[in-house]
Amino acid sequence: MKVPFLDLNAHHQPIRAQLDAAIREVIDTSAFAGGPFVAAFERDFAKYCGSNYAIGVGNGTDAIWLTLLALGVGEGDEVITVPSTFMATTEAISYCGARPKFVDIDERLYTMDPELLERAISPRTKAIVPVHLFGQCADMDPILEVAGRHGIPVVEDACQAHGAVYKKRKAGVLGVAGCFSFYPGKNLGALGEAGGVTTNDKELAGKIQVLRDHGQHRKYYHSKIGWNARMDGIQGAVLSVKLKQLEVNNVRRHAHGLLYDQLLGETEEIITPFEGPHNRHVYHIYAVRVKERNQILQALAERGISCAIHYPIPVHLQEAYQFLGHTEGSFPVAERCAEEFLSLPMFPELTTEQIHSVADELKSCIGGRKPQSSLVN
Ligand SMILES: Cc1ncc(COP(=O)(O)O)c(C=O)c1O
Repeated sequence: MKVPFLDLNAHHQPIRAQLDAAIREVIDTSAFAGGPFVAAFERDFAKYCGSNYAIGVGNGTDAIWLTLLALGVGEGDEVITVPSTFMATTEAISYCGARPKFVDIDERLYTMDPELLERAISPRTKAIVPVHLFGQCADMDPILEVAGRHGIPVVEDACQAHGAVYKKRKAGVLGVAGCFSFYPGKNLGALGEAGGVTTNDKELAGKIQVLRDHGQHRKYYHSKIGWNARMDGIQGAVLSVKLKQLEVNNVRRHAHGLLYDQLLGETEEIITPFEGPHNRHVYHIYAVRVKERNQILQALAERGISCAIHYPIPVHLQEAYQFLGHTEGSFPVAERCAEEFLSLPMFPELTTEQIHSVADELKSCIGGRKPQSSLVN
């Protein structure tokens, strides 16, 4: 059986008429850049996350960048984050003129290890950006406790975590701000590029609103040097339609995750994801860990199962960040995970039959079962 990694057609087909109508309305009213459809989505998304404000921007990278700028991050500052993330997290830091400082990840959650945070803080630290990797929130309480003691704001990179829950609160309201990507393949994806910031801080929201729109507080009155990082009207309208499906789709993803866990959890050579006791994981990505991952990826592809790797090289070892002076061994957990992560097909429309087929093929590529007592999770 062929199983795609992601099937956006299957995702859009049932709501195609609503999406077409939403796009038609934007064309009919010529509300293309910012405007009422973006404002309506901002209200809907803020309500969904439980935040006072949501600000639509061009993409998730803009969301992190503008939030850090609005917090005053600039030249000579340091921003702490993790090496197990997409490059955008650190690009946003670098584009403020600041330097990313890394903290290794926790080997079970794959998010910032709170125990390592304090020693990374210096007088230059201006912000901390934990990444809710794969759809699961970082262990925020100990991170917020350390940050609070040092008076440093915590900005969530929630680009993969729409609807993820930590201690009964959604991603996006745990730190001073939450930054989201609505890239098409995300749990809440636009039909193009889009992003957003959530916050309860009125002043911060106001600053980001000004920065995303050329620094103007009123048309042609520029109080800041900003940027053009507005969300476009079509994406706002489409996202309002798709937001209505997010909860049911997250429930489906979670059920798929549990079924994968069940089918793969007893195989000795496979480490399945761990869902933290305070978390609702929304499985943007369902990543297992296996040895000889590249060969397994290739073998699965030959059997029609499309998998992916998120991400093959941790950010601290990327060529672009050579100047930071890190070497192999600098962040051992992130490096080990980068060698072993294998992302299996995951999308709401995945069928039980497809999940069984992925699990069977993966197990047959690997072979071997472990005794019940040595389960990894
Ligand atoms: C963890 C993380 N941060 C930031 C981003 C950047 O979002 P965008 O691609 O919308 O700019 C992404 C997108 O993939 C991401 O996964």
